[in-house]
Amino acid sequence: MLVGKLITFEGIDGAGKSTQIQLLEAEFNKLGILYKTFREPGGTDLSEKIREILLDKDNLELYSNAESLLFAAARAQLTVEQIKPAIAKGECVICDRFTDSTIAYQGHGRGLNIKNLEIINNIATEGLTPDITFILDIDPGKASERMRAESPDRMEAAGIDFFQKIRQGYHQIMEQFPYRCIVINAEQSQENISKEINQIIMKRFKEELTCS
Ligand code: TMP
Repeated sequence: MLVGKLITFEGIDGAGKSTQIQLLEAEFNKLGILYKTFREPGGTDLSEKIREILLDKDNLELYSNAESLLFAAARAQLTVEQIKPAIAKGECVICDRFTDSTIAYQGHGRGLNIKNLEIINNIATEGLTPDITFILDIDPGKASERMRAESPDRMEAAGIDFFQKIRQGYHQIMEQFPYRCIVINAEQSQENISKEINQIIMKRFKEELTCS
């Protein structure tokens, strides 16, 4: 039976996830590996609408618990509508953020109860967990310099202290799941990061990836 792999990318805003996902897509295209890419929150019509609410910088009154549940609702829809069917067909799914973002941002960043967030995550994903997670690790000061040109959304507008807590949160997640989570130094060149990621994926899954 074909079963695809779920590959997730995590890290604070400005860590360079989007670039690395594009480079991984190029590698998969070159090798003929079947994949789909989604972003969180988003990836379905409904989840994209929830994304707009979550990132709208005018929604300052949004409470942290409501925020967590909206991220979970977007994830629940994406999981059932897109991720699970793709994996069942044997395709690789590349996801720009997944459950670890909730633990890092709402748990460590906002200070919500992590056990509760794990339960919410579990409901949203029906127990689906990533096969491998790349955590792009960067100093929040450097990450914010990278983003300076863009106008910040509701999440990005939070201060450096918030992102320091999230970075520490990701380190704790990595300690909790050392096999699944790989921390990558995101302050290196894009080429080096991409090479490291490609090598790890090929070493772990080469025989199992479905080609066209
Ligand atoms: P991004 O597409 O730029 O990564 O934007 C998503 C934002 O939402 C980013 O600031 C991280 C945040 N986020 C959470 O706080 N919790 C979550 O569960 C997810 C998926 C994202």
